[in-house]
Amino acid sequence: MIDINKKIEQLDWNKEPQGLYEPIAYTLASGGKRLRPTLTLIAAECIANGGLLNGDAMEKTVPAALALEVFHNFTLLHDDVMDRAEVRRGRPTVHVKWNDNTAILSGDQMLIEAYKLLSDVPADKLPQVLKWFNEMATGICEGQQYDVDFEHMSQVTIADYMKMIELKTSVLLANAMRIGGYIAGADEAQQKALYQYGLHIGLAFQIQDDILDVYGDPKTFGKAIGGDICANKKTLLLLTALETADAESKAELLQWLLVSDRNEEKIAGVTEIYNRLGVREAAETVMEEHTAVALEQLDKLPQNAACEQLRELAEKLVTRKS
Ligand code: IPE
Ligand code: IPE
Ligand code: MG
Ligand code: MG
Ligand code: MG
Repeated sequence: MIDINKKIEQLDWNKEPQGLYEPIAYTLASGGKRLRPTLTLIAAECIANGGLLNGDAMEKTVPAALALEVFHNFTLLHDDVMDRAEVRRGRPTVHVKWNDNTAILSGDQMLIEAYKLLSDVPADKLPQVLKWFNEMATGICEGQQYDVDFEHMSQVTIADYMKMIELKTSVLLANAMRIGGYIAGADEAQQKALYQYGLHIGLAFQIQDDILDVYGDPKTFGKAIGGDICANKKTLLLLTALETADAESKAELLQWLLVSDRNEEKIAGVTEIYNRLGVREAAETVMEEHTAVALEQLDKLPQNAACEQLRELAEKLVTRKS
């Protein structure tokens, strides 16, 4: 298996002006799970028969894997400005360590760097990969817009939420899978299975992210707890609570949604209502349903060690702590 961290380390950010490139180096050196490039590489390995038949096919997927990770990190810089988040991967976010302008411009540059990396995708595969990459990038912007719109809306449904997270999170994982497989020679049925696997682990992944935002340990999660509650993010937890609450709990919850100071109290108050209503368990059930749909896709793929890794990964993501 290709060492993606090493490939990321080899990217050179020692350029002028430092004010533009240093935050990029800072972000890419701060770790993270590297989930998206890992998916790209495993998808390619699965199609190239465990990477055994054609080692070359694996190297060919590296530019796309890197592009996807740099792109993901770009979205985080802008997302942290939008969410006013102060900590990521256990470190101050770029807009806190520097300022908003830096997060915006270094983020923009990371988006450009992602496209530069993508341009090294094998020429015969590039047109299709670029088309998917652009569709994905637009989807994420649309999802992010819904995410912020929903903060100020009171009539968001669970279906609206599912569409929103599909756009802001899942399409990236889905395309990471599809692009990896396609570069390694996947046929259309395999591309579809890879995409659907990524889409459904993506939905489960974002639901778990929402759960960890309330119930995670900031030391392992690397982000502050309660940010979604403070911002009235329409997470599955909140929407399930609003849908299932008795009149009294619902009134209490709606009251908290009007509070924009007293953050600590609000987090404690809303969490207490979530606990009372058991919404965490309800969200976990939805997460497991999507994991199951993802796992079904694997039957349509070559049964090899890489496919087995995809099975383990889907199962591990639902119990992740970071
Ligand atoms: C954070 O993604 C953004 C979401 C889609 C929840 P990750 O949880 O994959 O972030 P890193 O890259 O591992 O830090
Ligand atoms: C993730 O949404 C979506 C993108 C970053 C595009 P979140 O806002 O929940 O991600 P975190 O929790 O800040 O990582
Ligand atoms: Mg955020
Ligand atoms: Mg966000
Ligand atoms: Mg989150």
